[in-house]
Amino acid sequence: MIQRDGANISLWQNSSEAFTPSRQVSLDQNYDVVIAGGVITGVSTALLLQQAGLRCILLEAHTLCFGTTGGTTAHLNTLLDTPYTTIANNFGKENAALVQQAVRNAIHTVKTNVTTYNINCNFEEASAFLFSQNEEQTKELESIHHAAIDAGVTSAHTDTIPVPVKFDKAIEVMNQAKFHPVRYVMALAKAFEEAGGTIVQHCRVMDTDNTDPLVVKTETGDLHASWLIYTTHIPPGVNLLHLRCAPYRSYAMAVKLTSGSYPRDLAYDMYDPYHYYRTQIIDGEPYLIIGGEDHKTAHAENTNEPFLRLESHIRSHFDVQDIPYRWSSQYFEPADGLPYIGHLPGNPGKILVATGFGGNGITYSSVAARLLSDIVLNKENPYIKLFNPNRIKPVAGFTNFVKENIDVAKQLITGFFTKEKIHELADVAPGEGKVVQVDGHTLALYKDEYGEVHALNPRCTHLKCTVSWSLAEKCWECPCHGARYDINGKVLTGPADIDLEKITL
Ligand code: FES
Repeated sequence: MIQRDGANISLWQNSSEAFTPSRQVSLDQNYDVVIAGGVITGVSTALLLQQAGLRCILLEAHTLCFGTTGGTTAHLNTLLDTPYTTIANNFGKENAALVQQAVRNAIHTVKTNVTTYNINCNFEEASAFLFSQNEEQTKELESIHHAAIDAGVTSAHTDTIPVPVKFDKAIEVMNQAKFHPVRYVMALAKAFEEAGGTIVQHCRVMDTDNTDPLVVKTETGDLHASWLIYTTHIPPGVNLLHLRCAPYRSYAMAVKLTSGSYPRDLAYDMYDPYHYYRTQIIDGEPYLIIGGEDHKTAHAENTNEPFLRLESHIRSHFDVQDIPYRWSSQYFEPADGLPYIGHLPGNPGKILVATGFGGNGITYSSVAARLLSDIVLNKENPYIKLFNPNRIKPVAGFTNFVKENIDVAKQLITGFFTKEKIHELADVAPGEGKVVQVDGHTLALYKDEYGEVHALNPRCTHLKCTVSWSLAEKCWECPCHGARYDINGKVLTGPADIDLEKITL
């Protein structure tokens, strides 16, 4: 089983072997490229660059697939979370067609890799069905359909959908796919090592200077490299991209059905947040995966409630026999609807980044891997300008940009939830975590099931917002840019790279 950044076990975790690097390395060496982040984007990029003849090292702060790659629901689609209507409005019709071409090629890349490396990840092509359930949604569905066709997506109206949910109108989008993401990444990691690449786990990249070559500072020593690529989901440090990406959390369950009748294709309703459905077969066992109930990270006081709502939705539509897996994971929503892939803003040199994939990270990871490797190899790539993290779009995404950053400002000033005043530690129940005021001090307190209290300074070490407790995932989360910490304050996911301060009571 692999480790992940939350308390709940995902379907992929239990059905994957943890990665063991095939060789030990000392870090005092020179590399062409350092890739920080052992996720699907990092591993895919590292493989391409190593195969191109460069000397690459992949560093992961925890273990491979610890972050969102181990908690995704792994839809490979050209029907994106940001509808082509929005992309065409923000970036023009030609660019909407380019985005469609990029993600279509990404699905093809995954398919080719599965064949080339003979990966046992149950890759299957399927259609995706988008359906409306009221008049307003039907209107929106029609415009999404037209914009998708304009962008080059193969889509048609249909009278049937693969899930037992009442609907008004529906479209079928062809040539989508699904697979087991962790088994796919582990196989690519092995191929990377076989090509001569190096993987080091439990080694966080802390900083770099902008010299040539770069000095990359890690938790366990410095190394030198011509290029540094951050595939850490969101880059560490303080960067413009933290203002342009907002952290969100999505909830998923893997369900066994009494009837044994599992839908083969992907399906999506049109509520906001929407529900998504698909089946994955793992070692001969089918599971129906259903997700939704998304909210901005650390903006739900009780994170068990989204699970309860999701379960109620599932039970009202499906003949549930059992729900063996439930989990949640984080994604970063870009302000203008497209990911940021290329040069890290503020660092014109050889530091690259890929972030802001929204809910389509698994598809965009292959787009990013090709684009990042082409930049390093100085090759032409038609998407460089489109996904440029330094793009300036004064209108596109401006409302989202303002909304998300007013929210961050509010967090910085007040914190999201009122801090309860407590007089005794007995006021915190076992298994409970909360930010409280005790004798004029603000503390993040968690009492474990044995009654031991873990006290932390609740100021996030990234930019000092106040963290809040996730009851469902048993960790501290920052509402501003999505940093997450375990019960002892250890960083689970960035952008923070320093642990929360421990307080001795
Ligand atoms: Fe930026 Fe916490 S992640 S302040």
